[in-house]
Amino acid sequence: MGKKISRRRFMETTLIGATSVVGAASIPAFGFYTPQTAKLAMLGGQPVRTKPFHAWPVWDQADEDAILPVLRSGVWSRQDVVREAEEKFARLMGAKHCLLTTNGTNALTTSLYALGVGGGDEVITTPFTFVATVDAILLNNALPVFADIDPETWQIDPDKIEERITENTVAILPAHITCGMSNMEKINAIAQKHNLRVVEDACQAHLAEWNHRKAGTLGDLGCLSLQNSKNITCGEGGAILGDDEELMDLCYSYHNFGRPQGKYMSRDRGGHPILGTKCRMAEYQASIVITQMDSVEEETKRRTENAAYLTEKIKEIPGIVPVKHYGEMTRTTFYYYGLRYKKQHYNDCPRDLFIKALRAEGIPLSTGLGVIEGESIHKEGLIEETLNSKTFQKIYSKERLDSYRGQLDCPESDQLVAETVGFHSRVLLGSRQDMDDIYRAFLKIYENRARLS
Ligand SMILES: Cc1ncc(COP(=O)(O)O)c(C=O)c1O
Repeated sequence: MGKKISRRRFMETTLIGATSVVGAASIPAFGFYTPQTAKLAMLGGQPVRTKPFHAWPVWDQADEDAILPVLRSGVWSRQDVVREAEEKFARLMGAKHCLLTTNGTNALTTSLYALGVGGGDEVITTPFTFVATVDAILLNNALPVFADIDPETWQIDPDKIEERITENTVAILPAHITCGMSNMEKINAIAQKHNLRVVEDACQAHLAEWNHRKAGTLGDLGCLSLQNSKNITCGEGGAILGDDEELMDLCYSYHNFGRPQGKYMSRDRGGHPILGTKCRMAEYQASIVITQMDSVEEETKRRTENAAYLTEKIKEIPGIVPVKHYGEMTRTTFYYYGLRYKKQHYNDCPRDLFIKALRAEGIPLSTGLGVIEGESIHKEGLIEETLNSKTFQKIYSKERLDSYRGQLDCPESDQLVAETVGFHSRVLLGSRQDMDDIYRAFLKIYENRARLS
């Protein structure tokens, strides 16, 4: 059973961390490891660490006690437990309403549908995101128009959005990616000026805050993922947040075969007044969402504190550049701890070899978030494939598609995709000692850079 962090254990590990800070202060920054004393593990030396990092997901007796009665009741399809989870989720996030779905992808697809996005429309989004952000636009038969990223925060560059707006633009879909938030102030101002709708893809940003408002509550609708790797999880799941009851009723109807719901539909239009899909959350999934919400505050606090501690330490090591956050972010949370790897500081060692060297030292470094391993999303094959689909060929003229193809250029995102290294947020749930190990491993690699080739 994965263990949730008790208050006592949190204090113990924090105190161990505090001791390590004192110890670390006496270590000369670039003299601790030398090529003579510390052979790279990749080349047969001792690794910095062999102990595994914190596991994810985390569960305890409370989760088991919540799921078993649901299992035994035989009521597994959406009922009261999902409703209870929705109310608790909305309260936690500070939204008036929440609709739980099967996953974040369907939450996004449903939200765009509810805001009227359809064939012929354009939705402005970021190229540096998980594939599902873009899938949701294409699945609504609209064109994802990419505004390049801000290289420091890794989020969509708000100053590049307006130049992408055309008469066909209907919405902006910023994705709060890895461990930060997009500039919601500027995005909402642009949306207001041009009469556009905003859907936040907050699938990676549980509990992150912009001026004390939670990610997912700043646009017309906000979507979160509750998939296995996410900071609140039930294995697979998603959530839509919103304050507009009528809009949320439309989301509900769409996610439930287009059946009437609340204010939006009256039954005199039949039992299925609109075309819908089905992406309802199941009761046993919701039972875990309810219990997982009890630990997310403390886990988030720990991740954020550990990340701040680690960033402070590693910022002195050349060639690994931490992501920056907007000053308006009153709370940063971490789904992925990301850095840029600058190979010119490492004897031009390719990123894959750098990652291999860190992994040999016991640090679970990776290139990123699945799709970020390959190409920036705007270059993925799925886009050209969809443009050539029967549906898109019928909706869009050849001239329009050719002009669209001519705008798929996001050099900042390309460079970031080529340089990203980091690790999943579970690593940040550990102790200060764990953070010190990460720092020491990075330092060891830096000091041995001449041997990396
Ligand atoms: C930014 C982003 N958007 C959307 C999704 C899709 O969520 P799900 O996997 O729950 O469908 C993810 C999942 O990783 C994501 O990271």
